Amino acid sequence: MKKTVRTFQMAKEEGRKITMLTAYDYSTARLMDEAGIDAILVGDSLGNTILGYEDTVSVTMEDMIHHSAAVSRGTVNTMVVVDMPFMSFQTSEYDALVNAGRLMKEGRAAAVKLEGGKMVCPQIKAVTGAGIPVMAHLGLTPQSVNALGGNRVQGKSEEAAKKLIEDAYAVQDAGAFAVVLECIPAKLATLITDKLDIPTIGIGAGNGCDGQILVYQDMLGMFSDYVPKFAKKFADVGAIMKSAFADYIKEVSDGTYPAEEHIFKIDDDILEKLY
Ligand code: KIV
Repeated sequence: MKKTVRTFQMAKEEGRKITMLTAYDYSTARLMDEAGIDAILVGDSLGNTILGYEDTVSVTMEDMIHHSAAVSRGTVNTMVVVDMPFMSFQTSEYDALVNAGRLMKEGRAAAVKLEGGKMVCPQIKAVTGAGIPVMAHLGLTPQSVNALGGNRVQGKSEEAAKKLIEDAYAVQDAGAFAVVLECIPAKLATLITDKLDIPTIGIGAGNGCDGQILVYQDMLGMFSDYVPKFAKKFADVGAIMKSAFADYIKEVSDGTYPAEEHIFKIDDDILEKLY
């Protein structure tokens, strides 16, 4: 059955954990859909993992639309949530609405995600008011990496923790259907989860959240530029890929690939006429 915002709300009410992963292309999305994941985030982390940027600041609307459309084509039951890139919503409610609309119409998203708390509540209200579901994102918000002074754990002081709780209430009141909590202390994430009516999706926020998300290259050992502490390697696909690439190079070099079973044939009498 197609997963929707209702799946998220019912999961919270029934105490069932929500599962999310990032994906950026058709074939990966298809595999995740077949595995039964609840939702895929087309994250602006594609700036790091797919495009090789240092951070997510350079990611454009065109990048997001291109990858979102590919992921959407790969899903049947999975809900597709798409990140609003840096400066596509911070500038005004109007920009937020126009760009969220593009992600839905051109990227075939089912919901959008945007980073920030109280400051972006007018944008969340404008977008949800137009019938577009919004997932909020608090804690470590990578688009603010320059203001945060790096990828650090957030909400450790009393003041910072109180601000996070206020921001969580604010995005809920503004109409967000769920909120990502990234890189915050596990006990604080559990507290916020207990206080909110909407589900929390944790990444580096412990086991007390209503659901979890990981960047798929992190959980498959495919991205070694930066490996966060919270990223469990569920399989070392990176090592398997490297070994397969090395085998391919060897077999092409020594002529063992392609073998008899990989070739197409032509009748010898036709071939003779060609000499
Ligand atoms: O862009 C992304 O992948 C994200 C997740 C880390 C939540 O925002």
